[in-house]
Amino acid sequence: MTTQSGSFFARAVGVGVFFSMAALAGACGPGGNPDAAAPVDAAAPADCSSGDAAAGRVAVGMRACASCHAADLGGATTGTPGPNLTSTNLGGWSDQQITSAILDGEDEAGDRLCTSMTRFRIAGMNGTEVCNIVAHLRSLDPIAREVPDTCM
Ligand code: HEC
Repeated sequence: MTTQSGSFFARAVGVGVFFSMAALAGACGPGGNPDAAAPVDAAAPADCSSGDAAAGRVAVGMRACASCHAADLGGATTGTPGPNLTSTNLGGWSDQQITSAILDGEDEAGDRLCTSMTRFRIAGMNGTEVCNIVAHLRSLDPIAREVPDTCM
């Protein structure tokens, strides 16, 4: 009798534990965490071969890139200075290195660009626009202008 009530007690505890675990699993299961489906930051485009250079030229005008990179985008040494954006400087950069510089302010080595370079993802730029800009930059004639590192 003592043994039986002991085993009944053990079973009762076991059933209780089973239900508690089921309740916990329900709380943490699929749908229980609203953040689980939230999209992560879209990566910077790696292939801009379908970019539209003419649309990119318009975008560069609207985004006022020339105010820091000079009217010919060959780099400014006065005013608000910014580096050369022709192939003289960017020729060795991959599409993704350029798109992440423009969208997220990371240079070709993944280091942070100085804060005077706008992070255009925050300014609402999408993958299509940034690839159009890359196509436009790639279409520019190289300009051999030395622009010292202006980062402050
Ligand atoms: C307010 C000034 C400013 C504006 C506007 C600006 N840039 Fe920049 N940009 C900079 C500066 C300064 C750097 C260099 C940052 C550094 O060296 O850390 C830079 C760096 C870059 C680089 C990386 C090149 C390199 O050698 O570091 C690219 C690509 C670039 N800008 C593209 C653009 C494009 C395209 C636009 C317009 C959509 C634009 N920038 C608008 C100031 C600006």
